[in-house]
Amino acid sequence: PLVGELFGLTDLAERLQQKLGIAEVIVVQGNADLSPWVKEELGRVGARVLKQVVQEGDIVAVTGGSSIASVAKHLSPSAAFRTVQFVPARGGLGERVELQANTLASAMAAKTGASYRLLHVPDRLHPEALQTLVKEPQVQDVLTLLRDTRIVLHGIGDAITMARRRNYSEEELQELDATGAVSEAFGYYFNEAGETVHRMPTIGLQLEEVHKAETVLSIAGGESKAKAILSFAKQSCQNVLITDEGAARSLLST
Ligand code: F6P
Repeated sequence: PLVGELFGLTDLAERLQQKLGIAEVIVVQGNADLSPWVKEELGRVGARVLKQVVQEGDIVAVTGGSSIASVAKHLSPSAAFRTVQFVPARGGLGERVELQANTLASAMAAKTGASYRLLHVPDRLHPEALQTLVKEPQVQDVLTLLRDTRIVLHGIGDAITMARRRNYSEEELQELDATGAVSEAFGYYFNEAGETVHRMPTIGLQLEEVHKAETVLSIAGGESKAKAILSFAKQSCQNVLITDEGAARSLLST
């Protein structure tokens, strides 16, 4: 039980590593759907792992969402962070300000003593406006930085839950459902086979760049995310997954 408390649940973690093909899986106790403290724990472990893997001069791309917000909350200053830049992975994904990637990149920098960049992309931009914005030198600078991302720190969501959170209309939800979307990450929606079935019109880190990053650290817990975690794992790009017992048990029973 002591080991379980400190390093997560090792038996579940090993079985998940095999099932998902992810090199390192950490499982914390509980189910984030039911108890808010579980998300705290995901964040605490996420912060510890980030501190372990970060190196001088790193570009760390971060997404939005409550799981990554929890990591931000638990970070603390360390010498290794001094030359690190936190960069939002994607702009404008329809999150509340507190949960936006921009907010979390700046919060992480403030907590650790690192620096940060912002990607100013409003939500629901018309494709033409987006094309114009991409050409802005400020935006180009950040996109160039993102190409050198060494660490990606991101959340994973259930597709329909995320689409609702982003205020998709009933019609859009039905269309999305019809594509078979089960997971979402970086504004991409994936089906059970892990194929992209829908993309949000925004800019930032491309899926190919996620694949190129040396360390991809995913934070996602709660039984309701089991299918989503399984779907995203088909991308075969993650090095570390930090999840909880609720998601792990549900994943292993399918
Ligand atoms: O919207 C940003 C994002 O990282 C999504 O890509 C992801 O699906 C979601 O947040 C996860 O949010 P949470 O951690 O709150 O479940």
